Amino acid sequence: MSENHTDHATQQLVQAAIKAAQNAYVPYSNFPVGAALRTTDGTVYTGCNVENAAYPATICAERTALVKAVSEGDRTFDALAVTTNSGGFPCGICRQMLYEFAPDLRVIVAMPDGQVLYDLPLNELLAHGFGPKELAPDASR
Ligand code: THU
Repeated sequence: MSENHTDHATQQLVQAAIKAAQNAYVPYSNFPVGAALRTTDGTVYTGCNVENAAYPATICAERTALVKAVSEGDRTFDALAVTTNSGGFPCGICRQMLYEFAPDLRVIVAMPDGQVLYDLPLNELLAHGFGPKELAPDASR
């Protein structure tokens, strides 16, 4: 679903992501990304991408926000806002890591001016995802 009008809470989350992008360390790609991950009790963890001279060591904005949250003891999330200059979606690795904790997470993709391009559930971005349930002793299909 694409939306042009967003509610106040959504726009607040988008603004937090836009602000986080200002801290992006992107000397190699010059492609800043900002993320804001909201817990079900309303706490917001932000993240930016942090690149590295050994390129694959780079961490994305979404995973920065996620590991900040989990390392502080938060594991239940309801929404993520992500901003890039191109309106891009979270990458596959980020989708997978987010799916671990919140398969139904709302993913809000926005532009640096606050325009929301997409607002849709993670399980649509990562259909039939592999999660903790698959490793349960009684898991079968
Ligand atoms: N990047 C993110 O931060 N999130 C994504 O979902 C896609 C890519 C970053 C990684 C790298 O610093 C830059 O964007 C270009 O790939």
